[in-house]
Amino acid sequence: MGASVAVIGGTGVYESAYLEDPQKITVETKFGRALLWQGRYHNREIYFLARHGGGHALPPHLINYRANIAALRKLGISAVIATAAVGSLRPEMAPGSLVLIDQFIDFTRGRRSTFFEGGPEGVIHVDLTTPYCPELRRAVLRAGSSLGEKIVNGGCYLCTEGPRFETPAEIRMFAQWGADLVGMTNVPEVVLAREAGLCYATIALVSNFAAGLSSAPLSHQEVLAEMARKKGLLDRLLVETAVEIGAERACHCSEGAVPLDLGEGTDERS
Ligand code: HPA
Repeated sequence: MGASVAVIGGTGVYESAYLEDPQKITVETKFGRALLWQGRYHNREIYFLARHGGGHALPPHLINYRANIAALRKLGISAVIATAAVGSLRPEMAPGSLVLIDQFIDFTRGRRSTFFEGGPEGVIHVDLTTPYCPELRRAVLRAGSSLGEKIVNGGCYLCTEGPRFETPAEIRMFAQWGADLVGMTNVPEVVLAREAGLCYATIALVSNFAAGLSSAPLSHQEVLAEMARKKGLLDRLLVETAVEIGAERACHCSEGAVPLDLGEGTDERS
């Protein structure tokens, strides 16, 4: 038996081409509302959520990460594979590279990055020694190799507040800190997934060299163009990964999960 899996699509990934019989669903949570697609692939139930909304309507700092992750938990999903468009700080991770990130550095400010803000919820300090689920990461690598795709196994993602791109001085500093990739959305998503006890992994697609590492100025169009070139491959990799994920996993992702009041509310299907 497979696990119930969700895909969170980042920049350039606003739907899944492989979901059979997709149905739109709305989930109400205490933290807000999330919109998803529910469908099937090879007899597996897969949910799809576009992090930036349809048509990239939401900038990184205004995404309701808590509603999204709470909705996945409310739906009983236990495994989440996310995509992220990233800038690269490393010559060997050139545009077009797929990187399975294994660490992050948080350079965001003021985002709501916990479900637990004191009061009735209490306070928790979640362990992030292994931020990305090793079992899901193995599933991504298996799916990649069955598709004959090279995936860089490991990379440190630095999350900025955005929505602006970085300065070359920031990029030089991030490289000294040990970052390999830069993006705007993986935090707090990865943190909330762990608080909710969900297995979570991110496949990063390098869309550009980071600011100052190439002579041209950065543009969102350039990011979208590179994502569009690889969208078909990413789509396939995501669903093949979902098929690889077993229901019984030997990781520790769900061990720290705390009871979470997700709020009442009827969920709509259309
Ligand atoms: N910086 C931040 N976020 C990004 C980049 C970048 O260079 N490319 C894609 N997302």
